[in-house]
Amino acid sequence: MCGIVGYIGNKEAYPILIKGLHRLEYRGYDSAGVALLNGTLNVYKCKGKVSDLEKFNEGKDLHGNIGIGHTRWATHGEPNDINAHPHYSESRNLVMIHNGIIENYSAIKQELKKRGHHFESDTDTEVLIHLIEEIQVKDNLKLAEAVRLALNEVVGAYAILILAKADTNELIAAKKGSPLVIGIGKDEFYIASDATPIVEYTKDVVYLEDEEIAIIPRHGELKIKTIKNKPKTPHVSQLEINLETIEKGGFEHFMLKEIYEQPRSVRDCMRGRLNMTKGMVQLGGIADYEQKFLNAKRIVFLACGTSWHAGLVGEYLFEDLTRIPVEVEYASEFRYRNPIIYEDDVVIAISQSGETADTLAAIELAKSKGATIIGICNVVGSSIPRHTHAGVYTHAGPEIGVASTKAFTAQVTVLTLMALRIGLRKGTIPASRFHQILTELDAIPNKITEVLEKNDQIKYIADIYKDANNALYLGRGVTFPVALEGALKLKEISYIHAEGYPAAEMKHGPIALIDEEMPVVVIATRGPNYEKVVSNIQEVKARKGKLIAIVTEGDEIVKDLAHHIIEIPATDEILAPLLAVIPLQLLSYHIAVMRGCNVDQPRNLAKSVTVE
Ligand code: G6P
Repeated sequence: MCGIVGYIGNKEAYPILIKGLHRLEYRGYDSAGVALLNGTLNVYKCKGKVSDLEKFNEGKDLHGNIGIGHTRWATHGEPNDINAHPHYSESRNLVMIHNGIIENYSAIKQELKKRGHHFESDTDTEVLIHLIEEIQVKDNLKLAEAVRLALNEVVGAYAILILAKADTNELIAAKKGSPLVIGIGKDEFYIASDATPIVEYTKDVVYLEDEEIAIIPRHGELKIKTIKNKPKTPHVSQLEINLETIEKGGFEHFMLKEIYEQPRSVRDCMRGRLNMTKGMVQLGGIADYEQKFLNAKRIVFLACGTSWHAGLVGEYLFEDLTRIPVEVEYASEFRYRNPIIYEDDVVIAISQSGETADTLAAIELAKSKGATIIGICNVVGSSIPRHTHAGVYTHAGPEIGVASTKAFTAQVTVLTLMALRIGLRKGTIPASRFHQILTELDAIPNKITEVLEKNDQIKYIADIYKDANNALYLGRGVTFPVALEGALKLKEISYIHAEGYPAAEMKHGPIALIDEEMPVVVIATRGPNYEKVVSNIQEVKARKGKLIAIVTEGDEIVKDLAHHIIEIPATDEILAPLLAVIPLQLLSYHIAVMRGCNVDQPRNLAKSVTVE
């Protein structure tokens, strides 16, 4: 969480910083700030979004061709003007922005206070910049050296950018755990938490590695060293994203744009992997690791949030198609409970951002025990793919809306391809079933388009239930994770309390909540559990719940029972999540818009959770 951006070169820094902060706002948006150097060091920061900062800055001196900017998701200290970044050092000669958490900040703060330091904010960040300055002044060191020594004293995660009043020719950056990318232009450098603020200026980037410090000059070459003082040669890579993919393209919100992109994103995800002519699935990213899958006694999925729901779908897919036992773990729980990990486990980490701190830490733990780690990530070049043995990118394109949509369907698509490939090699899927699923999978993008055509009907239903206080989502088998995902989408963007439940478990608790006020969304596609789900629908109806059912086209039975039905095209039940989730995304979207909520930036959330 938190977005950081910096510029050094010949242009005015402020417009570049503000534009970059808008792009990074998905990472946090409770306060924002910039620091600009033009002879004087000006710091402007305030509570609120980047647009609030822009208003706050009207009429101020915003000149300078070196500067840093920050958009915050609060960890230490409430979101207010004082806790907003940048933070000053004791002498106010240095300013710093930070993404991450300094875990031992409290002990360091006590020591610094004893030595006469004064702190304005409640943040861990302010403690670190005070420490850096103290080290610098004590031995009259260069700033980069002081940063290096200070970082050897801290425990935790950081991506930091530091500006010194006395030096208009240099920016210092460092990272551990939180991401940082440096864009190389002609006589200029752009620095940001991800590549989106950089892409319109240059495609040449260096991804800083953990425990590296970058000395970023106005003139000359970028220098990198580790916090153990080992020089590193910057490895320049080429950005693959383009500008159109990170703009709204005529849609009112990024979330809606991303929902509508799904026919394309799922197709992109399958491109070059699903070969209908040969009737084959190929996954180059894991080709060298297939034997590990074939030998695996167990597959463990590690993920958080929506990606964890994709993992649950993966459990159904892998157990059905490969007959390998699967466990799906919240990365945050897994890492702290001394889990049992075998060397022949295949651990699959799923993450849209590739930066989720808990998932990264869980990967490291599993790796240290000798397991094979496979990544399924969306953001190319992010941290998780760099910490796995092998992996498959989802190629959904940048996802900006905080509520995940197209990343989920792309993750499920990759999991389907993987399970098909491994199942075929293991001989656990009969050839006829393999080809049948392949044909159905190939048809999914067009079927998603058909579901999207139900948008007006879904909007109509949203209008009826927009004032609900609670909602229940039910699914069974492979659609149970979709119920969880539908409930998550509703609560995170509309702030309506929603629960996802396995349909049959309803009678062990949630049924007590059902009355004539309660919308109950049931996924009742024509799969092996259909009749059972129809019985669950009857149970809801008997208690006067308001039934909204997602059904397979042509369903006549549920039509007579539910208040509303949303039809989706028929497919193999194992692929139903890819279609059934679409109306749930749209339903949440419309309800949230009708309730006046900020759909793309829901309160208290952030898209990339780089703190544990
Ligand atoms: C946050 C986001 C979710 C996302 C989760 C995991 O909570 O708001 O949309 O599912 O993090 O993120 P990841 O990038 O690892 O998939």
